[in-house]
Amino acid sequence: QVAAASGHTVVLVDQSDEILKKSTKGIEESLKRVTKKKFADKPEAGAEFIKKTLKNLTTSTDAASVVHSTDLVIEAIVENLEVKNNLFKTLDKFAPEHTIFASNTSSLQITKMANATTRQDRFGGLHFFNPVPMMKLVEVIKTPMTSQKTFESLVDFSKAVGKSPVSCKDTPGFIVNRLLVPYMMEAVRLFERGDASKEDIDVAMKLGAGYPMGPFELLDYVGLDTSKYIIDGWHSLEPNNPLFAPSPLLNKLVEEKKLGKKTGEGFYKYK
Ligand code: 3HC
Repeated sequence: QVAAASGHTVVLVDQSDEILKKSTKGIEESLKRVTKKKFADKPEAGAEFIKKTLKNLTTSTDAASVVHSTDLVIEAIVENLEVKNNLFKTLDKFAPEHTIFASNTSSLQITKMANATTRQDRFGGLHFFNPVPMMKLVEVIKTPMTSQKTFESLVDFSKAVGKSPVSCKDTPGFIVNRLLVPYMMEAVRLFERGDASKEDIDVAMKLGAGYPMGPFELLDYVGLDTSKYIIDGWHSLEPNNPLFAPSPLLNKLVEEKKLGKKTGEGFYKYK
């Protein structure tokens, strides 16, 4: 959405036409929200902006067949290294020489993905934040193999889509998640111990620390499955780090397919 809205030609790839239809609808809804504010006094210009943005966006279920005309690939699939590496290996065969590959991973090592390809120097991290149209930050990750030219291209792209880039080494969670995920897990542990209700913890962090959402609202918003993938991955890297300890409650909710807002229930219920 943000790439198309800033004039880039975008091909959105996913596994089925059904998912792509749902995604496109989501983008249309989100564009309407953005436009309502941006073009408050000029509805015609707003309608034109939506039309132009959607014109920049096409969809496909076959990444290998569309990658030949791409300058930049941004991968945002499931947080599973093997699945990501298989995708990158395939795309590496079909993408032009100059094409830069970037992962939007929340927690996996970019270096390990780069090593699955033959373009380690043209590989980096581009980590966006939910909801992307609203959150101004992008973390740009440079591995020891990422060339300066690639890094600068990723920084330039981030600016071109209207974001403020920061850079971080290829370390677990980069900047934001390295601080945010342990904080959210500490909130779950506080609740698990029975020290406070989840409602009070959320109110406390909103009114006492000025956060726009409390930790449980944010966990539901990000997705409990995504949060579990992150914490499990870090726990396997550093089993003795108490900040990375798994939570029985989080595990139970994921097992029950209560994944947060997207499934209608997580820590809270949604209509
Ligand atoms: N698309 C377009 N616009 C959106 C939107 C979306 N998906 N979601 C919200 N907005 C817009 C609304 O239209 C609204 O605009 P307005 O002010 O002109 O009416 C504005 O955002 C505010 O929305 P709401 O009034 O509905 O709600 P809030 O004021 O609570 O703001 C929020 C919503 C921006 C999501 C805010 O609550 C927030 O900043 N929350 C914290 C989000 C956060 O921490 N994100 C990081 C998560 S971690 C992550 O993503 C990393 C990953 O790796 C796990």
